[in-house]
Amino acid sequence: MSSQQPYKVLCVCLGNICRSPTAEAVLRHFCQQHQLNVHVDSAGTAAYHIGEAPDSRSQQHARQRGYDLSVLRARQLSLNDFLDFDLILAMDEQNLKNIQKIEYHAQQQFVQLRAQVCMMTEHATELQRQAIADPYYGGAKGFERVLDQCEIASQAWVNVFKSSQKQ
Ligand code: 4NP
Repeated sequence: MSSQQPYKVLCVCLGNICRSPTAEAVLRHFCQQHQLNVHVDSAGTAAYHIGEAPDSRSQQHARQRGYDLSVLRARQLSLNDFLDFDLILAMDEQNLKNIQKIEYHAQQQFVQLRAQVCMMTEHATELQRQAIADPYYGGAKGFERVLDQCEIASQAWVNVFKSSQKQ
């Protein structure tokens, strides 16, 4: 991780209105808290909600823990994101497959990509690479669970970023 250019992380889900904007705000907060030079953004693999603010339920649950999602707007994952970002984080296995399909097209176009694709929960030992489940069609518990998982996963990523800074 360079001390000048920020390390760039993109959190990705399906719609970019529930899980990935939550992951973006939580990971950004954890990185800021640990004074890490990390830039965090988010996107969705689907185009359904482009330009929309995060789901009002995601905003409300996040606000109760001090995360402000209101300024975020949904956008779709692009081929250029595989050149612009160092790390792309998937929320579940289907999401990972969708990202890898887009990665394949990016490889056809650009050959050499910058981004590494991982699960959001990759390094969170207590989550064991589990899915961050889509809360869109469920109740309040689902939105709280997304926040719990994002906080655990973000702490684990902060530990990874810190140990790579020491090298
Ligand atoms: P997200 O949740 O991928 O966490 O943003 C979803 C939001 C909307 C839809 C699917 C998932 N949708 O089908 O509209």
